Amino acid sequence: MAAQRGNRMKDKLFAEFTKVFGSTEGAGFFFAPGRVNLIGEHTDYNGGHVFPCALTIGTYGVARKRSDKKLRFYSVNFEQIGIIEADLDSIKYDKEQNWANYPLGVLKTCLGLGYKADCGLELLLFGNIPNSSGLSSSASVEVLTCFIAKTLYGWDIDNILNAKIGQKAENEFIGVNCGIMDQFAIAMGKKDHAIFLDTADLSYEYAPVVLEGMKLVVACSNKKRGLGDSKYNERRSQCEEALRRVNGHEKVESWGSISGEKFETLRKYINDEVLERRAKHAVYENERTVKAVAALKANDIKLFGELMNASHVSLRDDYEVTGIELDTLVETSWKQEGCVGSRMTGAGFGGCTVSIVKDECVDSFIKNVSEAYLAKIGYKADFYVLSIGDGPERLD
Ligand code: GLA
Repeated sequence: MAAQRGNRMKDKLFAEFTKVFGSTEGAGFFFAPGRVNLIGEHTDYNGGHVFPCALTIGTYGVARKRSDKKLRFYSVNFEQIGIIEADLDSIKYDKEQNWANYPLGVLKTCLGLGYKADCGLELLLFGNIPNSSGLSSSASVEVLTCFIAKTLYGWDIDNILNAKIGQKAENEFIGVNCGIMDQFAIAMGKKDHAIFLDTADLSYEYAPVVLEGMKLVVACSNKKRGLGDSKYNERRSQCEEALRRVNGHEKVESWGSISGEKFETLRKYINDEVLERRAKHAVYENERTVKAVAALKANDIKLFGELMNASHVSLRDDYEVTGIELDTLVETSWKQEGCVGSRMTGAGFGGCTVSIVKDECVDSFIKNVSEAYLAKIGYKADFYVLSIGDGPERLD
């Protein structure tokens, strides 16, 4: 499947590579997916469960080794930026390097872990995931870079280690204290399956997502995240602070390690209304995720959808990461015939929603939600009917 899609893309991107880097001699062709999270939001840095899946859209890369130590990056999505250059021996974060900070962060992390590279790289990327949409275009670039580097340099890095390296690069090089969900979902993706991951110990299970007579519809709000990264880090510290307060009274490992019932006995120790709501979300969202996976296994899509809706309410009211754009999309979606469930997905503060919609209602769903969104927000949302795909691959 991916290989077939890849053939058309390969011709196009090899032609681009020749234009930018002179020839394609010695170049390989690679792909890593984007991801959508079905449920379990802002639980991955709280030791809870997540339930994401990899997509058939993602990032394509053409890459080859150089004979010197230079690193040269080019993105077809950001042609106006041109080639971004760095040196393998002195990789550092620099705002001027723009999107290339993602692959640079991954390479620096690998070198820091002791992997050896005797020469630089040329890397051309093209992503068909909308940028800043909450479908993890950046984690896709990270996982792709690590996959390419391990292939070209012959490093022994499996997909789980790839995910860990991507997260480390994001935390330490980019400065976003994300959990491991995105990189894990991308590196470990499996066609037609979502990944039920326990972020406390990285144990995981693939669950088939068989939506008979239904589709996964993603709506991209086109609201750019802006201050999202700093607010993301703030949410994470709020959860940590709430946990610290409770730990002054009773030992609790993480918000993902306790039940809702237990939380009710502990919340009084938090002593701050906002922090209490943040922790409440983390605990109950984790419970919802576990229930949702059980519902899916029992083929109870109705319950799965209800849990998705409840997840959104909690992200809106307790975690406060939605905003008028995502709320308009989701609340309009709830009113549509054939919508089984709908919620924001990813970090929030803009980005996308994910909905499960009955086949025969998909067209009217998109039309109605799209019109209502434009009327209220003043600009368009984009809609995608998505399929669940595999992890990173070499396509040639
Ligand atoms: C972003 C982060 C993930 C996760 C989600 C929220 O996508 O990268 O680690 O925390 O937000 O669930």
